[in-house]
Amino acid sequence: MKYLKGISLILIPFVSFCAFQQVSYQSDIAPIINNKCIKCHTSPSGNGYSATGLMMDSYEALMQGSVYGPIVVAGDSQRSILNMQVEGRAGDVRRNLHNSGNALTNDEIKAFRMWVEQGALNN
Ligand code: HEC
Repeated sequence: MKYLKGISLILIPFVSFCAFQQVSYQSDIAPIINNKCIKCHTSPSGNGYSATGLMMDSYEALMQGSVYGPIVVAGDSQRSILNMQVEGRAGDVRRNLHNSGNALTNDEIKAFRMWVEQGALNN
C-alpha cells in the first residue's frame, strides 16, 4: 500500500499535464515502437514474440496482446502490462529487457502512459 501511495503522488502532477496534450498513436507511439520494440516483437524472429506471442507491428496486434492476454487496459496505465514493462514495474528479468541501457527515454515512457490514459486510441 505504501508503494501505491507513492505512485499516486508521482502521478498527480502528471495527470494535470495530460489534459493539455493529446498523444497520437500514428505520430507518437508507432515511431517509438518501430525504433525500440519491433525488432524483438515481430514474427517469427523476435525473442519477445517467441517468448510471449506479443507482436507490435500494428495497432491491432498491439491491442491483441500476448498469449497471456491484453497488455493494454485502455484508460488505466497502472494496470497495463505495457506500462509496467517500460516503467520497470514488472519484475527484474523484464525490467532488464525494457527499462535499462538503450531502453526508453523519460519522454517516451510518458508518451506510452499518456496514450493509455487517453484511451489507447488508434488516432
Ligand atoms: C531485446 C528484445 C526486446 C525488446 C527491444 C523489447 N522487448 Fe518486450 N519482451 C522481450 C522478451 C524476451 C519478453 C518476454 C520476457 C518475459 O516474459 O520474461 C518481452 C515481453 C514484453 C511484454 C510482456 C508481454 C506479456 O504479456 O507478458 C511487453 C508488454 C513488452 N515486452 C513490451 C515491449 C515494449 C513496449 C518494447 C519497446 C519499448 C519492447 N517490449 C521491446 C524482448 C524485447
